[in-house]
Amino acid sequence: MPNLPTHRPRRNRKSEVIRDMVQETRLTTHDFIYPVFLIEGQNQNVPVASMPGISRFSADLLIDEIGRCVELGVKAFAPFPSINDALKDRLARESANPEGLYLKTVAHIKRQFPDVVLMTDVAMDPYSSDGHDGVVDAESGEILNDATLEVLGQMALAQARAGADIIGPSDMMDGRVAWIREVLDQNAFSHVSIMSYTAKYASAFYGPFRDALDSAPKKGDKKSYQMNPANRREALRELALDEAEGADMVMVKPALSYLDVILDVKTHTNLPVTAYNVSGEYAMVKAAAQNGWLDGERTMMEVLTSIKRAGADAILTYFAKEAAAVLRRG
Ligand code: PBG
Repeated sequence: MPNLPTHRPRRNRKSEVIRDMVQETRLTTHDFIYPVFLIEGQNQNVPVASMPGISRFSADLLIDEIGRCVELGVKAFAPFPSINDALKDRLARESANPEGLYLKTVAHIKRQFPDVVLMTDVAMDPYSSDGHDGVVDAESGEILNDATLEVLGQMALAQARAGADIIGPSDMMDGRVAWIREVLDQNAFSHVSIMSYTAKYASAFYGPFRDALDSAPKKGDKKSYQMNPANRREALRELALDEAEGADMVMVKPALSYLDVILDVKTHTNLPVTAYNVSGEYAMVKAAAQNGWLDGERTMMEVLTSIKRAGADAILTYFAKEAAAVLRRG
């Protein structure tokens, strides 16, 4: 008779209490940052068709939604605005308007919920008539890096004035973290943090987000600034630059197809690492669950756990509210 096994890892799985005891990764509501969509008007709740369970809210209803999330223990939010086409231009001027939809609402949320953390988005696309994250050269169609830095600096400063806790540059222009840091520091906002979208890939998984905000590029794609999904070491180059430029936290985006990058970034930095579980990743789980092809709730928790297991200290996720409800239920 062959030797029976001496080593039996199954002993550590034999009961729920033991499994819980040896569990290596545990989600909590403190891990979540909830991206939310803001639209003009009053009493507006417009569902995003490709993101079941997610709506675009007018400011009044967004306040209610944030209140419900806070009750569930979610206390960090990343608002994104949907801007009327009439207000878009080449230089995204509306992005620095303190009376505009976004900044007025950010200030309003902070007044209602002083303890809530708001991470504001720095990139031109919601306000750009070209639908790009940077200034487009009218003749060549090129995305102009250094001209964009000017715009991003003003946008970040206006957000800090509105009360943002964390500035989140999602544009992928070179040198923007240092630029924004300097603008903030020179204007007495040295206490405002920067969470850099360090390794943001030119991904197909952003589709539902661009539908939600009507922010898709009018021409071309974002491959001259967002990273090539085939590259891993390049993320470490971006990481080194963001650290040197003064980022407080770094991010990998998307999350699920980039777990290797999350781990790489985690092992190469002492800064907190975050990951953005993007709209397309959310939509896939929801679509399969609606068809009865997956158990939506278990899949959601597995997805979020895997992102944390890979090394994310915090996760931007459209699942935040739902997952918080599951965690509360225990
Ligand atoms: C744009 C931005 C995008 C997302 C966040 N900020 C889309 C893009 O780069 O085109 C995507 C988020 C998601 O898909 O959930 N600055």
